[in-house]
Amino acid sequence: METNAIEVPTADGLPLLGSLLDLRRDPLGAYERARSEHGDVVRIVSGPPGLRTTIHFVFSAAGAQQVLAGQSANFRKDDRFSLEMRQTFGNGLLSSLDDDHIRQRRLLSPLFTKKRVAEYATTVCDEVDALCAAWEADPGRRPDLNEDMSRLTVRMITRILFGADAEQAEDVVRHCMPVLGTYTLRRGLMPLNLPRSFPTPANRRARAAQRELHALCDRLIEQRRRGGASDHEAGTDLLTLLINARSDEDTPLTDEELRDQVLVFLLAGSDTTATSLTFTMYLLARHQDVQDSVRDEVRSVLGGRRPTPADLDEVPTVERVLKEAMRLYPAAPVLIRRAVRSTVVDGHAIPAGAYVYVSPWVTHRHPSYWPDPQRFLPDRFRPEEESHRPRYAWFPLGGGPRSCIGNHFAMLQMKLATATLLQRYRFAEAPPRVPLEVGVTIRAARAVECSLSPVGHVSADILPRPR
Ligand code: HEM
Repeated sequence: METNAIEVPTADGLPLLGSLLDLRRDPLGAYERARSEHGDVVRIVSGPPGLRTTIHFVFSAAGAQQVLAGQSANFRKDDRFSLEMRQTFGNGLLSSLDDDHIRQRRLLSPLFTKKRVAEYATTVCDEVDALCAAWEADPGRRPDLNEDMSRLTVRMITRILFGADAEQAEDVVRHCMPVLGTYTLRRGLMPLNLPRSFPTPANRRARAAQRELHALCDRLIEQRRRGGASDHEAGTDLLTLLINARSDEDTPLTDEELRDQVLVFLLAGSDTTATSLTFTMYLLARHQDVQDSVRDEVRSVLGGRRPTPADLDEVPTVERVLKEAMRLYPAAPVLIRRAVRSTVVDGHAIPAGAYVYVSPWVTHRHPSYWPDPQRFLPDRFRPEEESHRPRYAWFPLGGGPRSCIGNHFAMLQMKLATATLLQRYRFAEAPPRVPLEVGVTIRAARAVECSLSPVGHVSADILPRPR
C-alpha cells in the first residue's frame, strides 16, 4: 500500500451507538451528509461496542470505478449480505464467487445480448397493452404507479422466463419474493443472527416461501427437460434457453443451478425495473413540459403504432428520461463489497477485510458531476454533456465484471413501456413528494397515484386488446 495514503475520516455519531439511529431513520440522507461533511471516502460506524459495524463508503466516480472495475479483484462479494443472499436464493449469478461466477457469466451472457433480448419485445408490449386495457376498463380509478409498474414487471419477467406457464408462477412470485427479500435484508443488517434452522416465526415463513418457490421452479424445469412444454410459447422461453445454455469451456447448468438462476432473475429483474419505471412515470407526471416533448418525439416516429426495438434509436429522449430517472432514483442505492487486501482507493487507505460500499444514490447527486443535482433535467444525457463526465458518475447498473447482466433487457422493457404509455396517455397530478422504502433496492413506500387522460387519436393497432 502507498505510504502517503490518507487516513479515512469517520462520520460523526453518538459516543455509544455511532451513526446507528441516523442510519435507521434515514440511511440515504445519512450517506449524503457523510459525503458533504467528510468528503469522498468516509467511514460510518454504527451499533454499540461489541456489535459494531464499520463501513467504508466510496462516493467519487473514480473511487467507484476502482472498486467495481479497475481493482475489482480486491473487492469481492463476500460480505454479510451476499452470504445471506446465497443462503436464501442459492448460488446464482448475483452472489456466486470466483470460478463459479466466471462459468455462470460465460454461460448466461449470450442470452442477454442486445440482439437476443430484442426477441422479447412482443411479450413486453403485450403486457403493457394488458395494463392499458385494465386502466381503460376502470376509467374512474387513479392509477397507482407503484403497484401497477410492480405488477407489470412481474408479469413481464414471469412471461419471459416461463412462457405460457407464467400464470401459475405470478402469484407464487408476488407472494414469496417479498417475504424472502425482507427476511434476507433483516438478517444482512444484524451483526448476529439465530441459525436459520431455529423454528422462529420468521425462519418458518421464509422456509415455507423458499419451499414454494423451489417447488414451482423444479416443476417447470422438469417439465421442460421432459419436452413437455405447456404450449408453443414454452419452447422459446428463457428457462428453456437456460437449460440449453452451453459454452466450449463449461459444463451445462445442473438442475439446482438452473433453479438458482431463475430465482436470481426473478429477484434482480422485477423490483429494479419496477422502481425505475415508477419513478420515470412519476417524474414525467411532475414535469409536463418534458412529458410533452417526449410524447411529440414518440408520436412523430411511431405515428400511433406499437414500438419495435428498431424504433428505439429514433427516440433518444425516451432514453434520456429513463437515465435521468435512474440517476435520481437508482434502484440499487448502494453496492456492497469486502476488501480482500489493503488497497488505496482515491488516495485513501482501505484496510483488508473492510466492508466497502459504493453508492449510486450519493454519486448521482455529487455536485462535482451534476450541477443542481436534485433537479430532473434529462438533457444532462445529451451526448455532448455526457462526454464531459467521468464514466462512473452514473452507474445505476453497476460496472465491471459484476455489472448488471440484464442491462439491455431492462432498458428494452423500460423504453418500450415508456414509449407506449406516453403515446396513449397524459400522466399528471402526482404527489409532490414520494417517501422511499430503503432495502437492498429502493421503492416508493406508498401508493404513487396520478391522473391519466387519453391523448389524441391513435391508430387501431395500438389499442389495447382485452386479455
Ligand atoms: C432497471 C433495472 C435494473 C437495475 C437498476 C439493475 C441494477 C443492477 C446492479 C446495480 C447490479 C450490480 C450489483 C452489484 O454490483 O453488486 C446488477 C446485477 C445483476 N442484475 Fe440487474 N438491474 C436491473 C435489471 C435487471 C434485469 C431485468 C435482470 C435479469 C432479468 C437483472 C439481473 C441481474 C443479475 C443476474 C445481476 C448479477 C450479475 C453478476 O454479478 O454477474 N437485472 N443489476
